Amino acid sequence: MVSVAIMGHGVVGSGVAEILLTHKQKLFASLGEEIYIKKILDLREFPDSPIADRFTKDFEEIINDLEIRVVVEVMGGLNPAYDYVKRCLKAGKSVATSNKELVAAHGAELLAIAKEENVNFMFEASVGGGIPIIRPMNQCLVANNVGEVAGILNGTTNFILTKMIEDGMQFADALKLAQDLGFAERNPAADIEGHDACRKICILASLAYGRHVYPDSVHTEGITDITLNDVKLAKEFGYVIKLIGKVKKLSDGSLDILTAPMLVPLNSQLSSIDYEFNGIMVRGDCTGDVVFYGKGAGKLPTASAVVADIVDCCKHLKARRFLFWADGDGSNIIDYKDSVSAMYLRVSGDDAEAKAQKLFGEISTVRSGGELAVITPEIRYGDCQSKCAELRDSGVNVLSVIRIGDI
Ligand code: HSE
Repeated sequence: MVSVAIMGHGVVGSGVAEILLTHKQKLFASLGEEIYIKKILDLREFPDSPIADRFTKDFEEIINDLEIRVVVEVMGGLNPAYDYVKRCLKAGKSVATSNKELVAAHGAELLAIAKEENVNFMFEASVGGGIPIIRPMNQCLVANNVGEVAGILNGTTNFILTKMIEDGMQFADALKLAQDLGFAERNPAADIEGHDACRKICILASLAYGRHVYPDSVHTEGITDITLNDVKLAKEFGYVIKLIGKVKKLSDGSLDILTAPMLVPLNSQLSSIDYEFNGIMVRGDCTGDVVFYGKGAGKLPTASAVVADIVDCCKHLKARRFLFWADGDGSNIIDYKDSVSAMYLRVSGDDAEAKAQKLFGEISTVRSGGELAVITPEIRYGDCQSKCAELRDSGVNVLSVIRIGDI
């Protein structure tokens, strides 16, 4: 029997406890031992839980219990999760977490502590919810030089955008629905402003390229400015709007990484990933494109990935699974203004088309009502900003500026 503790009994934590209890036989068959939930840490009371007697409000009961070999961190947020996880690793306990904020902010340090203590720090659920992506990238694709990783990494925003595209639903109503379904972060600003997706592409970039990429080095835009007009005009051009996290290794070895809404062409595999589903494309030099698809948020999908890590930790109590990257300082990341892509602009005003053509060259256009949507040739983002400023100076209203995703 291996004793584990679960820190946090929210959406994911209760899902982890549920799977450990309902899938006991299945997990026993895989591990050859029982996984026993010895403690659950939460400040709230859960008198109706079948294991109500194992709840504690005191972290010291977990850290001081020598029988607990694996600790699950599903509290979310940085505090106290960071302190607790660090202490668990230093006490020789392996840790499995779904906390992308923690991994994106402190992954390199926590991996280094795990290495030092000869224990495991695992975070399959931190990216893509129930989709296996960390282990496949770390193990199955290890032979590849990864040229690019691009994905729809946030279920809440993908749900909102899908509702806008499919049902013409307003942003706020779709957000409320996503929250009610349990997809959103405690603070949904992290979803809709792109920070959650940013943390996830940082984790994937760190894993793919071996140096920690911190979120504050990554340009991030959310979906709060996307309107139903943009959704409709994008469709006229043959695109859907998706929030994309993307990292590309350039020929000089530097990384072009960002999180932003993008127009995704309908022939891209990512274009048909809807609702709370996530999709991640990994471009390997041996494999070509490999695409991972599944539920990126929600109780049982995310808990399923956490439980896989628990089993892995339990199977390797005395051995390290090799999962590691070094610390990074952002010096390998290009300025987002130097990133190049074609651009979609929504504009209005007299002679907007002629003025846009003069500045951007060969453009394609679609009209709807009094508005004009333009797709420009490929352009450096900083140059696009300058030209948009010139357009405004000439009396044109620039209502939206969105990248075209080459994915
Ligand atoms: N809020 C996150 C999302 C949860 O919507 O994708 C899963 O990480």
